[in-house]
Amino acid sequence: MKRKCLGLLVLAYTLGICARLPADEPHRSPFAVAVSADQSVCLTANATAGSVSLVDLSTMKVLCELAIGRGPRELIWLDETTALVCLSQEDSVAVVKREGDQLTLIRKTNVGDEPGGIAISNDRRRAFIALGGDDVVAVLDLAKLLSSDDAAKTAIVDRLPVGGIPRTLAVSSDGRWLVTCCAVPCEVFVHDAESLKPVSARKIFDGGFNPGRPAITGDSQLVILPSAVNRAFSVTAGMIDIGWVIDNRLSKLPLPDGEPGDQKQLGLDIRGKAVGDANSVAFSPDGKTLVVTCGGTHELLVIDYATIPWPSGDPGDFLPEALRKDPSRFRRIKLGGRPVDVQFIDRSRVLVANYLSDTLQIVDIEANRVANTIALGSPAEPSDVRRGEIVFYDADRSLHSWFSCHTCHTEGHTSGQVFDTRNDQSYGTPKLIPSLRGVADTGPWTWHGWQTDLKDAMRRSLQESMNTEQPISQDDVESLTAYLTTLQHPENPRSNTVSPALTQGRLLFERKAGCAKCHSGSEFTTPEIFDGAVEDPKDRNKQYNPPTLKGVSTRRRFLHTGKAKSLEQVLTKYHRPQETAGESLDDNELSALIDYLKSL
Ligand code: HEC
Ligand code: HEC
Repeated sequence: MKRKCLGLLVLAYTLGICARLPADEPHRSPFAVAVSADQSVCLTANATAGSVSLVDLSTMKVLCELAIGRGPRELIWLDETTALVCLSQEDSVAVVKREGDQLTLIRKTNVGDEPGGIAISNDRRRAFIALGGDDVVAVLDLAKLLSSDDAAKTAIVDRLPVGGIPRTLAVSSDGRWLVTCCAVPCEVFVHDAESLKPVSARKIFDGGFNPGRPAITGDSQLVILPSAVNRAFSVTAGMIDIGWVIDNRLSKLPLPDGEPGDQKQLGLDIRGKAVGDANSVAFSPDGKTLVVTCGGTHELLVIDYATIPWPSGDPGDFLPEALRKDPSRFRRIKLGGRPVDVQFIDRSRVLVANYLSDTLQIVDIEANRVANTIALGSPAEPSDVRRGEIVFYDADRSLHSWFSCHTCHTEGHTSGQVFDTRNDQSYGTPKLIPSLRGVADTGPWTWHGWQTDLKDAMRRSLQESMNTEQPISQDDVESLTAYLTTLQHPENPRSNTVSPALTQGRLLFERKAGCAKCHSGSEFTTPEIFDGAVEDPKDRNKQYNPPTLKGVSTRRRFLHTGKAKSLEQVLTKYHRPQETAGESLDDNELSALIDYLKSL
C-alpha cells in the first residue's frame, strides 16, 4: 500500500500535478502563507516536505498538495489562478497554476543563488526576488516568465545590488517603493519600484540582526520591521535578565529615506518573560492593529498601532509600561509550535503559518484564541531530528525566553553577529557565531577547538549560551545533536563551473599559498590548532582551530573576531599568505584564489 502511494506520488510529481503524499508522511513545516485576493483559498510553502498545499478557507480543508522541489520559501499569488514559489535550495522560482481544487506545476526557472523574498510590482509586470546568496534583487519580466520555458530563461531583466544576504522584500501599496531587508549587516534598501533606481540604504539601529518580514503602512509612508538586537554585553544570566544580551524590537523607518533620527524602535520584551524571535508583522485592513509572530516564544502579539508610544532615541530595554499594563493596547496569544508568517483575513482574524506544528492557525485576535487549526500533515510521531529542531527553535530554553539557538545560528547558519559566550572561559572576548552547516563533520568545535564531543558541546550550549533554567535531559542533548547532523550546505552554484582562474586558484591553494596544510580534506579543515590570524589581547588562549572553508561564500563576516568583512580583507589584512605560508601573491593570483574559495 505504502509503495503504491509513493509510486503515485512520484508519478504525480513527474507529471507536475497534485496528489496525496505517502502514508509515512513528512513534516510539512509551512514557512509562508499567501491568501488569494478573494480570500477563498490560501497556499502554503511547506519547507520540510518540499510541497505547496492549497487550502479552502471556508471548509478549512486541504484541497490539494503538490510536490514542488527543495526549499520552498516565499510565495505570492499573481492573480486568482497563478502563483510563484521561490525554491531556495534549487535556486529557482516555480510557476504554479490552480484550477478549481487542483494545482499544477507549470515550470521552474533558474533565478540565482538562494531565492527568498518575493514581491510584484503594482502593474503586475515585474516580480522582484531577493537572492540571499548573490546579494542582489533579481527583477523578472512576468510576461516572459509565464509565457514559455524558452522565454522564461530570459525573464531576468535586471539585478539590483543590495547588502549582504537579502531575505525579505515588500512593495509599498502605492507601488512606488521596493523595500529589501538584508541580514548581514542588517540594512533596509529602498529602490524606486518603477525606475529601479536606488533611493536609500539604512542600518537598523546599532546591533539589529535577523530582520524578519516587514510590513508597510497603507499610506506607503513607513516600514515596520521586526528584528533582534545585539546589545553586546557578555552572555551571563544577569545581563540576559535585563535585556543586555539580545532583545527583540520593532523598527519604524520613514519611506523612502530619512535622517537616522527619524528611525524609531519599540522594545517588545517584558522582564522575566521576554519575546523570542519576532519574525513577521502584518497590519489589519483598517491599519489600526499590528500583529507580530514570535517563533521562539510560540505566540502572536497584538498591538494597537495608533497608540504605540514610539520612544524617541534609545528605546530602553523593555516594552513600555503603558502597553504592558493595558490589554486593549498589547496582548500575547499563545499558539504553540513556531509561528513564522501571518496575514489578516478580516478585521478580527489572522491566518498564521506555524512551521513546527505543521498547521495553519486561524487566530481570533478579539477573543484572544486560536479559533481553527488546519492540519497540513505530519508523521504520527516526531523523529529525534524533529525533536531536536523543536529544541533549536525554542526560546523558552533560554533564561526568561529572550532568544533561541536559532537567534544566533539563524536557521542553522549564522546571524553574522559576535557574542561573548562563555566557552572560551574569558570575558570581553566576543567571538563570531560559527555557521552550523555541515557542523557534524568539522570537529573539534568552537574557535579554539576545545570541544571534542558534539553532545557534550550541546549540553554546554544549553547551559552556558542559553542559560536555561530547565533541567537538560539526555533526550534534549541527543535529539539536538541529531538535528545538527542534518544541517547541510546549500548547493553552491559556483562549484560546478570550470575556468582557468578556478584551476589556478586551486593550485595556489594546494601548493604555492600552502592553504591546504591547515584547510584540508573534503571539509577544508584539520583537527589541529594553530596561532590565530587576528589576536585579541584579552584571549586566554591565542590558538585556533581552522574553520571549514566549505560554504565560505555564504558567510559575510570572517575570523573569530568577525573583523574581516570579505574574503579580500581576510587575505590582504588579517590572514595573509605572506604570514601563513611565507609566500606573497600578486593581485591576479589573489583574485584566482578568492574565486576558488567561493566555489567551495
Ligand atoms: C548568544 C548567541 C548564541 C546562542 C544563543 C547559541 N550559540 Fe552556539 N555559538 C555561539 C558562539 C559565539 C559560538 C563560538 C564560541 C567559541 O568559539 O568560543 C558558538 C558555537 C557553537 C557551536 C560550535 C560550532 C563550530 O563549528 O565550532 C555549536 C555546535 C553551537 N554553537 C550550537 C548551538 C546550539 C545548539 C545552541 C542552542 C542550544 C546555541 N549554539 C546557542 C553563539 C551562540
Ligand atoms: C597554519 C595554518 C593555516 C594556514 C596555512 C592557512 N590558514 Fe586559514 N585559517 C587558519 C586558522 C587557525 C583560522 C582561524 C583564525 C582566526 O579566526 O583567528 C583560519 C581562518 C581562515 C579563513 C576565515 C574563515 C571563516 O569562516 O572565518 C579563511 C577564509 C582562510 N583561513 C583561508 C585561508 C587561505 C586561503 C589560506 C592560504 C592562503 C589559509 N587560510 C592558510 C589556519 C590556517
